[in-house]
Amino acid sequence: MNLKYPSMQAELILVTGSNGFIGTKVVETLLAYGFSNLRCFVRPSSQTGRLEEVLRKTPSGKNVQIITGDLLSQDDCARATKDISIVYHLAAGFDKSFAGAFMNSALATRNLVEGFLKYGIPKRFVNVSSFAVYSNLHLKRRGLLDESCSLEDAPQERYDAYGFGKLKQEEVIREYGKNRGLSYVILRPGAVFGPGKRDLSGRVGIDTFGFFMHFGGSNQLPLTFVDNCAEAIVLAGLVPGLDGETFNVVDDDLLTSREFLKAYKKKVKWFFSVWIPYPLAYGLCFLWEKYSQWSKGQLPPAFNVRRCAADWKGNSYTNQKIRQSLGWKPRVSMEQAMTSFMSQFELRVK
Ligand SMILES: NC(=O)c1ccc[n+]([C@@H]2O[C@H](COP(=O)([O-])OP(=O)(O)OC[C@H]3O[C@@H](n4cnc5c(N)ncnc54)[C@H](OP(=O)(O)O)[C@@H]3O)[C@@H](O)[C@H]2O)c1
Repeated sequence: MNLKYPSMQAELILVTGSNGFIGTKVVETLLAYGFSNLRCFVRPSSQTGRLEEVLRKTPSGKNVQIITGDLLSQDDCARATKDISIVYHLAAGFDKSFAGAFMNSALATRNLVEGFLKYGIPKRFVNVSSFAVYSNLHLKRRGLLDESCSLEDAPQERYDAYGFGKLKQEEVIREYGKNRGLSYVILRPGAVFGPGKRDLSGRVGIDTFGFFMHFGGSNQLPLTFVDNCAEAIVLAGLVPGLDGETFNVVDDDLLTSREFLKAYKKKVKWFFSVWIPYPLAYGLCFLWEKYSQWSKGQLPPAFNVRRCAADWKGNSYTNQKIRQSLGWKPRVSMEQAMTSFMSQFELRVK
């Protein structure tokens, strides 16, 4: 095997969220790079079938430890981080409630970092964040959304518990970087897709009122194929000299929302959809938000102008920074990625 980063092969590496959609691929990529000194963190209730399959497929997978616990427990974090020098932190809260998202994203991260600094041999902490932390409210339509873009300053108004959790998680990381010298890198993937995830991104549209409302139109989607994204995450833990840096992760040759929906309908199933142009979507979200305020929350502000902008305003994206600093490039082309994504639906039909 052609080992990548041979001088680092002995490092003990922790992956949280290791049984998840992206986490499993991160473990697979680390094994492919020759790393087998891995500890995979899962919860007692986690479905571990995909992770176990990945470990079975690779001979060195048998050396990998699986450790069970909950990141909300400081004791479990202490056990998980003992002697660890690189952490890939993918676990996150997808709860609908703000409290739940805060706990499983921010609080869990604080426990993990505390354990890492106390019981580990800290070299690098890779925090996987998300595009959900950005606000494009003041960015022009089609304007470039890159790492310098503003962060959301009112996630409650956006009614986005997940985004709130990710913002708080990033705050925790930056604070530990500043006050305790944590060596960290933050990665913000766009919309990650691939086999294992069947849903259409909400950026394409929503299927709420008995038909599919297609909001995205000609907007570019910030897509990244799961294998490409996982490789970016792995490199962020290995490439020297990146402390405190933040990187967006998007692939090349991004499809528009309309192109993605067309390919999906052709391959998976046809369904009726209505395209809603952005000014109309914005107007509807504005009215919904106002009515929600007027009715004092009788109607939850699920649609509002901040969410409308974040999901459907349409921006352009770049991977220039991550390419230059990490030497990463999407190994799987968009065409191959789409074929692989769609193939999971064929398997179901058989
Ligand atoms: N998927 C995307 O499009 C996307 C885009 C941008 C960023 N991201 C980020 O990428 C990361 C991975 O996402 P994913 O799509 O792979 O999600 P996923 O499949 O839902 O995986 C999330 C993982 O977090 C674990 N977890 C949650 N709370 C935990 C806790 N308290 N203790 C221990 N583990 C806990 C879950 O364990 P269980 O299996 O037990 O629930 C699961 O393994 C997340 O940080 C997410 O914010 C994802």
